[in-house]
Amino acid sequence: MKQKILVARATFPDVIERLQQQFEVESNQEDRIFSPAELHEKMQGKDGVIITSSEKLSGEVITANPQLKAICNVAVGYNNIDVAAATKAGIMVTNTPDVLNETTADYAWTLLMANARRTSESEHYLRAGKWKNWRFDQFLGADVHGATLGILGMGRIGQAIARRSMGFDMQVIYHNRSRLTPDQEAHANNARYVSKEELLRTADHLILVLPYSEQTHHIIGAAELALMKPTATLVNIARGGIVDDVALIAALREHRIASAGLDVYENEPALHPDFLTLSNVVLTPHIGSASEKTRRAMSDCASLNMVAALSGQRPPNLLNP
Ligand code: DGY
Repeated sequence: MKQKILVARATFPDVIERLQQQFEVESNQEDRIFSPAELHEKMQGKDGVIITSSEKLSGEVITANPQLKAICNVAVGYNNIDVAAATKAGIMVTNTPDVLNETTADYAWTLLMANARRTSESEHYLRAGKWKNWRFDQFLGADVHGATLGILGMGRIGQAIARRSMGFDMQVIYHNRSRLTPDQEAHANNARYVSKEELLRTADHLILVLPYSEQTHHIIGAAELALMKPTATLVNIARGGIVDDVALIAALREHRIASAGLDVYENEPALHPDFLTLSNVVLTPHIGSASEKTRRAMSDCASLNMVAALSGQRPPNLLNP
């Protein structure tokens, strides 16, 4: 008898077809958003579940499914899953690292450039029919080339972002839980390790690439924003919750920093309504990894993890310690 899996969100049809060769698959190709209770109910009797970062699996839900053997997240971040509870219950948890590094790094640059050069704001102006003439002082932004780029969180995506800065003739400074090796620093455009405080004070632009955890909750709040340059752009392509949205809104409103590029939010998909009143922020709906090729690679990676987990092999991207 085939093992049963739930694919909680829509994915590429051929990925579902491949999974069906191996498993009895309940899929959600209409991409309805399940309530927590519905997700819980649909997981009953399943050997495995494939979810995205939007589905939250608490310890309670995980342990209420004694048959469950594998949870495969289609995301590199996994703060949506209580991994400790899963480990205790003997359930494997996997993620999709590496396949999205370059695409997500591209997107960090998209947000940095769009903010520093006020692309979104000026486009809105033009679309609203307000552009009457070229003006010398219109939409003056900050230079990116030659600037000092700060990166908080220097994992694989952070390093991919740093490599791209070579072409812009930038200096890179970073802060991370642990320092990179000299070789890694050299490959990351000779990135220089600094304290968090120096990073905040010195960076002309700052990109956040940290995972969310209790330790990184609100790691950027009012005190940290106060250290940043008034000309700086802050980019968050990592996770909501590492930035205190209310403090950020105040800093943007009072022009204590120049702008922000946000792809993630504290309570996403709900957005703090005040963000929508600000012109110095570019807001996008968690699309950092959203290229056709990368989303496919993420989907394939999660399926391979599931196949390995349910056939008694060690999944390539096992997260349990
Ligand atoms: C990730 O992979 O963590 C992305 O943010 C998508 O959730």
